[in-house]
Amino acid sequence: MKKSQGLSTFFASCPREMETMLDQELDQFGIEDREVKKGGVRFKADDLTGIQFLIHTRLASRVFKSFAFMKVRNEKDLYNKAKTEPWLKALTLNQTFKIQTLFDHKSKAFFKNSVAVSQILKDAIVDHFREKKGERPSVDTKDADVNFLLRIEGGRGDKGWNCSVFIDLCGSPLSNRGYRQRGHSAPIRENLAAALVIASEFDGEEDVFYDPMCGSGTILIEAILIKGKIPPTYLRILRNIERKEKTFAFLEQVWFKEKTFLTRDVKEYLQQTYEQINKSIDELEHFQFYGSDIQARNLNLCREHLENAGLPADIVELEKGDATKLTLEIEAPGVVVTNPPYGERLGATDEVKELYYNLGENLKNNYKGFRAFILTSNPELRKKIALQTAKRIPFFNGNIECRLLRYDIR
Ligand SMILES: C[S@@+](CC[C@H](N)C(=O)[O-])C[C@H]1O[C@@H](n2cnc3c(N)ncnc32)[C@H](O)[C@@H]1O
Repeated sequence: MKKSQGLSTFFASCPREMETMLDQELDQFGIEDREVKKGGVRFKADDLTGIQFLIHTRLASRVFKSFAFMKVRNEKDLYNKAKTEPWLKALTLNQTFKIQTLFDHKSKAFFKNSVAVSQILKDAIVDHFREKKGERPSVDTKDADVNFLLRIEGGRGDKGWNCSVFIDLCGSPLSNRGYRQRGHSAPIRENLAAALVIASEFDGEEDVFYDPMCGSGTILIEAILIKGKIPPTYLRILRNIERKEKTFAFLEQVWFKEKTFLTRDVKEYLQQTYEQINKSIDELEHFQFYGSDIQARNLNLCREHLENAGLPADIVELEKGDATKLTLEIEAPGVVVTNPPYGERLGATDEVKELYYNLGENLKNNYKGFRAFILTSNPELRKKIALQTAKRIPFFNGNIECRLLRYDIR
């Protein structure tokens, strides 16, 4: 396939502490020009490669494409410079838009109010449209057609602050895989679940995979997608191809629609990926994935999610039971990956402490040869697991700082 000419700058955002893993994902994708930032990775690639990355990334929350770069001294300068940018290439009069501004440490101290700065950029866009078209597009803060990200960073110096305007290419965040309906009380984000599976070094050819406290099945589903090499955006691709839904924001964006070769290449790529997804789902193996939970309603939710995800109903062996006692008939090698309750609401009560202790004991006695990975936020609970910790990997579950603890059970 012929690649579109020239390189664009992209920014892939991710949860805190996941930046290095995201950088490795970009590396595996053959994208060399990368810079790790707080909250994501900036990279250069041709447009087709940037979009292919968006389709395949398991870790990014969103992927943005750079639209404008300005050096500005202050708010007034931002307005004046932004007003001259070619906004008609970013959106049409009929599309709604929204702006989110992010500062780094230094620019926050100078500009202070991100909402006020977003307003200034909005005024510049609107005034640009009024001058060129006599009319202006509307703002929609909830469900805009085009979402802009304004990042202001660097030092003030002589030349001013570095202001980068990015366009969100995704629409809804990539972490929304699209199979969830009603909420489990404490599900983890899908991209965090994928990060846990990747950190476990789950080998789809060798390992069985078990989540003993699987809740709504988020970790299991990510493991299945990884095993099947199924892109995490596959449900969007299916809806795009089968129902012609515009499930990626970039499909409706001016800059994209203007590039006829790129549009053709992406269309072809989505079709090819669609065919591959159907094959991969058919080829998934049974007796490799296991899940359990103490609550029947969570297991039902897990079943519902597997069904919504279009995965074979019996792809996971699900069993209701207590993870501190259950001994499944599964053989090493394998990985156990789970996020037990952290006791966030009630604290590390004796009951939760006992749960951690007993989970550790069950793993020690009945899962020899497995690597176990437990995500938890509470150091008091970590200490209750009487196994030698091989690794502690930091993650954030929303705003909660956590560690993924690795135990090699011998
Ligand atoms: C934090 S949630 C896991 C959420 C899950 N990763 C998801 O994304 O939906 C913890 C789960 O542990 C289950 N649980 C609590 N105690 C348990 C036990 N002793 N044995 C098995 N499951 C248990 C709860 O029912 C709940 O579904």
